[in-house]
Amino acid sequence: VKDFIIIDNCKSGDSYCRMVLSPADGSRLPEMLPGQFVEVGVETSGVLLRRPISINDVDYEANTLTLLVRNAGRGTSALMDMKSGDRINLLLPLGKGFSTEAPQGAKLLLIGGGVGVAPLLYLGKVLKNEGFAPEFLLGARTAADLLSLDEFKSVGTVHVCTEDGSDGVKGFVTAHPCLSEAYHRYYCCGPAPMMKAVAAVARRNGTDCEVSLENMMACGLGACLCCVEKTVKGNVCVCTEGPVFNINELTW
Ligand code: FES
Repeated sequence: VKDFIIIDNCKSGDSYCRMVLSPADGSRLPEMLPGQFVEVGVETSGVLLRRPISINDVDYEANTLTLLVRNAGRGTSALMDMKSGDRINLLLPLGKGFSTEAPQGAKLLLIGGGVGVAPLLYLGKVLKNEGFAPEFLLGARTAADLLSLDEFKSVGTVHVCTEDGSDGVKGFVTAHPCLSEAYHRYYCCGPAPMMKAVAAVARRNGTDCEVSLENMMACGLGACLCCVEKTVKGNVCVCTEGPVFNINELTW
């Protein structure tokens, strides 16, 4: 558990904010793996709530951590209103992240929908640092809902899908022609129906596939059992055994 200072909190409409944080005591950030998450403490009406938020980016040089927060109601709406200089309490890093090992030159596709794109930015940067050329397939309802597009473009090739056709290919990510190309692995994060559809494509074409589950979470520590998922090894807590799973571990 650590206190952080908000360096910047940039709102995108009423739906999202991008929060840049640095440890309040000036200590170095701990090592964080792509796909891991933090539990943010938010006080609303005198009650401390913890909200799980995935790690969007880490800059060890600047000693900053970035979170992309979707306004999903009580708790996260309080985060939207926080200002630079405010203090916030985080529990981190939590969970198990994506695997970043792959054969040299492997083609890797990072598929995100909605705010599910958040962990893929940091994952893409780590993969790029390890010598891969990650590609992104990003889906949203409209062009205005595509988050951090320029940052993704600075990391790798970006393919886009929108439901209304206002940018990229019209339809869901599974309609994008790049899915007919051969990839070594898909990494996927977004709404469950989207991840299940991507998992079905991966099974059909024999592509390795990791998904980051967005089960409801409270404690983040394996204590409250609200995040349980059925897997081939029985029921497990997504907060401690995940949130990232290979689809072969799931009963989808
Ligand atoms: Fe409490 Fe997983 S969130 S056990």
